Amino acid sequence: MRMIFASAAAILLSLSVYAQHDLGHGSMPAAASTPITKAIAVITPTQGNTVMGTVIFTAVGAGVNVMAHITGLTPGKHGFHIHQYGDCSAPDATSAGGHYMPTGHMHGAPTDSVHHDGDLGNLVADSTGTAHYEYTDPTLALTGPNAIIGLAVVVHASEDDYKTQPTGNSGARVACGVIGIAKP
Ligand code: CU
Ligand code: ZN
Repeated sequence: MRMIFASAAAILLSLSVYAQHDLGHGSMPAAASTPITKAIAVITPTQGNTVMGTVIFTAVGAGVNVMAHITGLTPGKHGFHIHQYGDCSAPDATSAGGHYMPTGHMHGAPTDSVHHDGDLGNLVADSTGTAHYEYTDPTLALTGPNAIIGLAVVVHASEDDYKTQPTGNSGARVACGVIGIAKP
């Protein structure tokens, strides 16, 4: 009788372990639906360049805060945009496509009333080639139909003039990084 009880207990124990194990898998969809509040693009140089750094996107009440720290630039201004494809595979990053523009506006400054959603303006590098950038964009989103997750950030050789269509005439692509989900 004692033996039977022990076996029953063992079976119950293994069942509960199994149940917990199963619960672990069952919780995966819940984890995947956790709201995305932070994203990161690790910026790496295109062929022949040394530009690198990080761009952090954080969902805030007023939109998305964009904070970049980039090194290896020539001193001065450099066009800085979100491009339409998360593909930095081409040696010149042309695989990232054009500026991200789901709403089809003209190119401009991020503060212009009309501009591509991906227009982030210019990075400004100091004499050591380092740029710090921070801007809170009211229209960018980390979730929903116009989410920027999976797209690319591109840094250019020259200044974005905010006028030339559709690129801002900011020249070659010196660095590129794909926007991925970051730990909140
Ligand atoms: Cu660009
Ligand atoms: Zn643009």
